[in-house]
Amino acid sequence: MKTYRAAIIGTGGVAESHIRAIRAAGERVEIVAAMDVDEARVKAFCEKHDIPRFYTDSGAMLDAAQADLVHIASPTGMHCDQAIQSLEAGAWVFCEKPLCASLAEFDRISEAENRTGRYVSTVFQWRFGSAAKHVKKVIEYGEMGELRVAVCNTLWYRALPYYEVPWRGKWATETGGATVTLGIHLMDLFLWFQSEWEEIFAMAATLDRPIETDNVTMAIVRFKNGALASMSNSALSPREESHLRMDFQRATVEVTTRSPYTNKNWRFTTPESMPDPDSLARWQNIEEDFSGSQAVQLIELLDAMDRNERPPINGPDSRRIVEFIASLYKAAFTGQPVTRGSIAPGDRFYEGNNGGR
Ligand SMILES: NC(=O)c1ccc[n+]([C@@H]2O[C@H](COP(=O)([O-])OP(=O)(O)OC[C@H]3O[C@@H](n4cnc5c(N)ncnc54)[C@H](O)[C@@H]3O)[C@@H](O)[C@H]2O)c1
Repeated sequence: MKTYRAAIIGTGGVAESHIRAIRAAGERVEIVAAMDVDEARVKAFCEKHDIPRFYTDSGAMLDAAQADLVHIASPTGMHCDQAIQSLEAGAWVFCEKPLCASLAEFDRISEAENRTGRYVSTVFQWRFGSAAKHVKKVIEYGEMGELRVAVCNTLWYRALPYYEVPWRGKWATETGGATVTLGIHLMDLFLWFQSEWEEIFAMAATLDRPIETDNVTMAIVRFKNGALASMSNSALSPREESHLRMDFQRATVEVTTRSPYTNKNWRFTTPESMPDPDSLARWQNIEEDFSGSQAVQLIELLDAMDRNERPPINGPDSRRIVEFIASLYKAAFTGQPVTRGSIAPGDRFYEGNNGGR
């Protein structure tokens, strides 16, 4: 068994989930260094987690650490440059969502992957719970028929202190609002289940808090087979809930939760007029029961490193949500529908989610 040398960039809130993931991987990963621009924070983080070296400069850390894997948990606006810097230092990358600020940045990261032969896996832990993995298989098996209607709502709440962190609420550093930071988990999950979207209409609003970015977006999405979905992302909803509901021809599949979900948050229903208890019993039978987490995703990333193969949530499977979000914002800010694949170099929404506004 190989033990990979890991380093982490950004030692704030979500970095704790990465440490738990590294510890859960046992002897497969040894954390050798951490970096943050806040010296007191990174020093305390290293002491708490028994990490031998701390740095306040990512280049200095990458030169010294000889890391095989770099976890990126810094503010979103820094991810692209730090991911490329890590690839160029010879490491694979496990980068927090959102991976980057724009399609332009995504394409720069892909170019660096091709050049270095290393890969970046975006954290989307919602894909890694037992129920989501099971639902994906049931959908692909096709017994429920085609999707007709869906609702994908992330209705969460972020109070004023959340935005006192300097990088929050700004296009340059957070790269968007409720849509890219909160709703992205459920939208990514939905589009992993049902990737063939074609056209989007949307609106965005900043209705509260002294921020530049959105705290509400709403979208209507049409899929290749004609299915329609409504998608809402909010940071202003006091009773917090995520709800994904997919109505297929022969069954409704839904999850209602405040993250993280377990199997009990998922439900299958067949039409009252055509009950199908045998299929329901099969669909509802999920053998294991665990939540998605950075820890579960990390194991799959390490397996890919062992095989020197493309890891989960990389390439087109990672670009999908970056393009979808660029399209959602373009539709909202231009008041025009946007078709999939239409945002290309030269389009101002290729360069950034706010289209340079
Ligand atoms: N997967 C999830 O469920 C999840 C949850 C929370 C956050 N996130 C993502 O993780 C990232 C960090 O979020 P957070 O909540 O931990 O933020 P945070 O503000 O708690 O921590 C960010 C840390 O990055 C440091 N930092 C600032 N500039 C830096 C730079 N140039 N280089 C290195 N470090 C720098 C800050 O000092 C801070 O310690 C964001 O992209 C966020 O979207 C993901």
